[in-house]
Amino acid sequence: MPTPDTFYVTTPIYYVNDKPHLGHVYTTMVADVVARYHRLRGDDTFFLTGVDEHAAKVSDKAAEHGLSPQEWADQNAAAFRGTFEKLEMTNNDFVRTSSDRHKEKVTEYVSALLKSGDVYEGEYTGWYDAGQEEYVPENKAKDNDYKSEVNGKPLVKKAEKNYFFKLEKYREDLLKFYDQRDEAGRPYVQPTARKNEIVNRIKEANDIPISRTGSGGWGIPVPGDDEQAIYVWIDALFNYLTYVDDDDRRKYWESGATHFIAKDILWFHAAIWPALQIALAKCDGYDWVWGEGVQQNQLVYSHSYWVSDSGEKMSKSLGNFLDPAAIDNYVEEFGLDALRYFLATRGPLGTTDSAFSPDLFVEVYNSDLANTFGNSCSRVSNMIGKYFEGATPETQGVASEISKQFGGQQPDLIVDTLGDLYSEDAAVLKMESLANRGVELIRVVDSFIEVTAPFKLAKDPDKMPEVGTILYNCAEALRIASVLLWPFIPDKCEAFWQRIGCGHYAEQLKDNGAGELEKWVQWGQLVPGTPIEKGEALFPRYQVEKK
Ligand code: MSP
Repeated sequence: MPTPDTFYVTTPIYYVNDKPHLGHVYTTMVADVVARYHRLRGDDTFFLTGVDEHAAKVSDKAAEHGLSPQEWADQNAAAFRGTFEKLEMTNNDFVRTSSDRHKEKVTEYVSALLKSGDVYEGEYTGWYDAGQEEYVPENKAKDNDYKSEVNGKPLVKKAEKNYFFKLEKYREDLLKFYDQRDEAGRPYVQPTARKNEIVNRIKEANDIPISRTGSGGWGIPVPGDDEQAIYVWIDALFNYLTYVDDDDRRKYWESGATHFIAKDILWFHAAIWPALQIALAKCDGYDWVWGEGVQQNQLVYSHSYWVSDSGEKMSKSLGNFLDPAAIDNYVEEFGLDALRYFLATRGPLGTTDSAFSPDLFVEVYNSDLANTFGNSCSRVSNMIGKYFEGATPETQGVASEISKQFGGQQPDLIVDTLGDLYSEDAAVLKMESLANRGVELIRVVDSFIEVTAPFKLAKDPDKMPEVGTILYNCAEALRIASVLLWPFIPDKCEAFWQRIGCGHYAEQLKDNGAGELEKWVQWGQLVPGTPIEKGEALFPRYQVEKK
């Protein structure tokens, strides 16, 4: 298993024109699982999420509601923050682009780019997608019949004096960077299926406007030109840097961020973002921005969409999203961990969209959580309660030796390679497989119980040492499975740890603390004699009729 490290993970910062929905919750939850995995392995981890405030649609919506853009942004930023807190996201900070910290830093970066000449004044005419706050190149606009690719609304022709960023100058640097990363076996854009499209677009990329007029004072002014506000996308991309650009946090930046986003905003992250970094690093005092760690490790993971049953992207403008109230209902009915587990393991992390299906939710809940983790923990602790007065029994040997006699599977042998496989899955962000390492181990415990049948052996007093050994091995495997599952279902795992005398794991992991994954997944750590509490069912089985 690799040694502990420094780790930085981010989500997009979300527009505050409206309240959060399932799509936003999803990306933040995936990043949270990854952040927790890194904390579990002892990495010094920084997880950043937040909101993007200076969009025209924010000030438009504010006007509709008779509020100032700041008031409207404050309300919705609070809704995002509140939703993420309620869902127990462990972000280490929360970005607000209207914060002084962010505004001051963005002003500094753009000043440096103006000074170096990579940002210059010019005139722009082009097609604008107001919903996406994005200029669309002529050929792409034409292909889509001059309509938005995302919401189908007509594009608007815009002509204005603008400041431009010399993207064209960085085409070669970007292509070289892509090649280097491919050669190193760690592509910058993942999954790699969308790479060709991006590379072709980079080859034809022209300079891009990075300011706009008429923002009514909502936005960060271009340094030295109060008529122009920095384009919201440039302002927003810089958040990944502004929030870690200080002496304490710069190490996170330098380790190379993992940026989780969805495919709608890939171009900005895949091309404009690294080009801005390369350009900024050429300015005085900023060479660290494009250091070795960044060049080697920074990556953009672009997932697909949650879609409605009819296959449309879930979005606020289409009004077909699961809103905070619907999300609350799931949490109330099944518990927060169940929602986390479902989203993180069955979501659109790959290249295909996922429909949010309530039936699948129940099926996954019952099969992976209630019938597996929940049931196995109850079964083992009940037997320990019944046969050993609730104290961890002595073990006369390991599971593999007992299994040999019964011809069953061997939890302890599986555990030997599990930690490494788990880390390999995490390194390539294979969430379903990562979670499955824990679930599979529990399934092995279940079949181990079936073949060894401790409940039958217990009828013969002479067989009690054997029963003790079997149950010790079951409890030990469940302990290890719960460590592996913690990033996905932290609350239930922590409740289980309390019951088996491992409450100190939770203590250690609290408040961004460092875990000891490598040590905790070693076999044989449960101490015989430790009380095992039965407690409530961790995941009560959900009766479908009840729905
Ligand atoms: N403000 C920009 C991002 C700037 S990042 C420097 C923005 N905001 S957004 O509010 O529109 O959020 C877009 C992101 O929300 C997506 O990239 C994705 O992470 C998440 N999702 C929004 N809808 C989604 C789905 N239907 N499905 C999955 N994720 C979705 O773009």
